[in-house]
Amino acid sequence: MNSSDLGIKAKLINEALLASDMAYSPYSGYCVGAALLTASGRIYTGCNIENSSYGATNCAERTAIFKAVSEGEKDFTAIAVIGYKRGEKPVEYAFPCGICRQVMAEFCKKDFKVYVAISGEDFKEFRLEELLPESFGSDCFM
Ligand code: THU
Repeated sequence: MNSSDLGIKAKLINEALLASDMAYSPYSGYCVGAALLTASGRIYTGCNIENSSYGATNCAERTAIFKAVSEGEKDFTAIAVIGYKRGEKPVEYAFPCGICRQVMAEFCKKDFKVYVAISGEDFKEFRLEELLPESFGSDCFM
């Protein structure tokens, strides 16, 4: 890992933390932020957006990915995710849910990096393939 690598990870985690401020989570009280890095170097952020019909809730990761795709970006290298109870500091690693992992698999390669963070210094790094092994994809039927 070189120093610019460290720099972009810390930046992504910081952007995810800033995005979590926008979380709309009146039901769970849990705030999540995500920051998605494109191959071109742009960062798209997202927060969780809940709904009184709980199933209509959108996770932070999907908000970021859908924002990017809706603006013509489909080549992604990494995402940072951070979560915490409103009014508290992050204390647990916030892992992407299964639906978000599947959405990542739609657009991202196996070596897409997922940083689950508590802070810029305290995070775990995974390849998408580790988080969603043997994933279902369109190669099965196309
Ligand atoms: N949440 C995310 O934003 N990302 C995940 O990967 C897991 C869960 C949100 C959805 C909901 O608003 C809250 O966390 C509690 O489930």
